[in-house]
Order: sequence, then structure tokens, then C-alpha cells
Amino acid sequence: MTIKLMPVNTTYEPFSLEPEYVAANQGFVDHVELSQVRHFLDLACGTGTVSELLLEKSPAAHLNGVDYDPVQVELSAERFRKLGYEVRVGFDVTEDYSTGKPVLAFGEGSCADLPFEPATFDCITIANAIHIIEDKKKLLADISQLLKPGGVFGFNSTFYSGSIPEGADRLYMDWLIFATEHITNKNKLLEAEGKPTIRRVRGTTRRAFTNRWYSPQEWTEFLAEVGLKVTSINERLVELSERSFTYVGAYGGLAEVLLSGYPVDEASEALQAAAGPAMRASNATVAPRNYLEIWATKS
Ligand SMILES: C[S@@+](CC[C@H](N)C(=O)[O-])C[C@H]1O[C@@H](n2cnc3c(N)ncnc32)[C@H](O)[C@@H]1O
Repeated sequence: MTIKLMPVNTTYEPFSLEPEYVAANQGFVDHVELSQVRHFLDLACGTGTVSELLLEKSPAAHLNGVDYDPVQVELSAERFRKLGYEVRVGFDVTEDYSTGKPVLAFGEGSCADLPFEPATFDCITIANAIHIIEDKKKLLADISQLLKPGGVFGFNSTFYSGSIPEGADRLYMDWLIFATEHITNKNKLLEAEGKPTIRRVRGTTRRAFTNRWYSPQEWTEFLAEVGLKVTSINERLVELSERSFTYVGAYGGLAEVLLSGYPVDEASEALQAAAGPAMRASNATVAPRNYLEIWATKS
């Protein structure tokens, strides 16, 4: 099957709505009892996929979402307004209800600098994003401080030691090779037309991705150092369809690290275009990936 390429939408939204993605995140939140939670904090909340799954577990709870990308914050706010919530923009930790539903708040901000009081939240999550955060140990220490005693913290990530299933290395390698070829071919056309070519600025790889990917054991140790005791560790195999794999390629946040140094729109277009060909080169009907899911409790 050939996927028709859309004009590149570099937000996380198309991928975040894919059934395999939603199911994987549902599996992640199903690992823990959340019905007693009154205040959720969903860090790097993106378009609110996981925020929505959390609220389904405790419909009377309030939720604060934080993301440093104003586009994702707006997409989250819009999503919950459509679901009938009053949504405030910012970092208000509120007990208010409006039209029978808890008021939610989504703020544009960095996980490196969280503007909340200690012991505020019953549950903090950072889904599909902890690998991007530069100072992971500081983040975990801050999370521990923001949790109430007995509160829970969970994350899932598909960039850890073990995330590429056996035999799938070739597929992910070809993805990058074909994406680079896409840019090379585009440059030939641009050159022939006498137009400026797409250039890669070297040395711009973000530190988060030059870090080693940690193992479940290492994460357990990091959590213990800040008083968070692991209660469950799970590894989930997720098989992305060609469409999902194509959509994740289009996501600018991933493209800017996988093809760092290229203009993000070009990198997104190239990874989107290369997803299907990479799968066909491996005779793959799905793009397999392992997700690590960890939950811990504050003692
Ligand atoms: C792959 S998306 C995951 C979104 C959402 N948590 C989910 O699971 O669907 C990663 C998100 O992390 C956000 N992000 C990355 N680094 C961040 C930081 N330092 N502070 C806040 N948000 C960040 C990005 O803007 C993006 O929305």
C-alpha cells in the first residue's frame, strides 16, 4: 500500500491520533490505579492524548498540562474545550468546577523550570518525552518534590536501551538513508532550477539525543536516588502501520533530532517520504518498536 503524502503537518497531532499510538498509551496508563487522583500534572503534554486517558481514569480530577511548544499547548486546550471542559491557559492549580466538570489548565513552559509549589500533585506523568529532556536527573528531582507523599509518577519512552526490536535495525537505518537521499534528490532539482539548495548546518545535534539511551535498571536507580520507588516496569511491543510510521516521520520534534541541522520542514518532509520505502526495503509490513513503561511511588 502506498500512502499519499500530505502537505507536511509537522505538529504531533496526526501521529498522536493514530490507533496504535493511543492503544500503547492506554496500556501505559492502565498499569496503575488512578481513581483517587485529584490533581494530575502531565508534562510535555503535546496534544493531550495522555492527558485525556488520565482524566478518563479519574473524571473528577483537575489536570495541569505543560509543554514548551505553544502550538501543542493550543491543540491540547482546543481538544478539551471540544470535550466540554473550561480550559485556562497558564499554570493555575485550581479546585474550580465549571459546567459540572473540573477546570483544566495548559501552560506553555519548560520541564526544566516548573512553576508549581512542592507537594501539589497526586500523579505526574511525562509520556513519550523524557528522552528529549536534557537534564533528566534534575527533572526527576523536581517531579519528586512536586508529588504529594504517596503520589505516583509514570513515564513511557521509545528511546531507551532495548527500544529497537531484534532485526529492526536495518529498517531504522534505511529510513535515515532514504530520507537523506530524498534531500539529495531535491537538491539536484533545485540546483537545476538555479534555486538555493537545502543545507545542513553541522554540529547542531541536541544534547538530549547525544546522550546514551538508558536501560530499565538505570532508570530504576535514577528514580530511587530522588525517593521514587518503582512499582511497575513493562516493555510493550508496538507495531506501527505504514501510515503511523509516515506520520511520525512528519513530526518536527523528531525530525529535528533525527536529521539535525537541516531546516525542520525539509527534515520532516524527507522522513515522511522515506518511511514507506524503508519498510518495503525490509519487506516489513509494520515498523516495530518497544516502549518502556515505568511507574513509581513517592515514599
Ligand atoms: C513526542 S511528544 C509527546 C506528547 C505527549 N506527551 C504524548 O505522549 O502524546 C513530545 C512533546 O514534548 C514537548 N517537549 C519537549 N521538550 C520539552 C521541554 N523541555 N519542556 C516542555 N515540553 C517539552 C514537545 O513540545 C512535544 O509536545
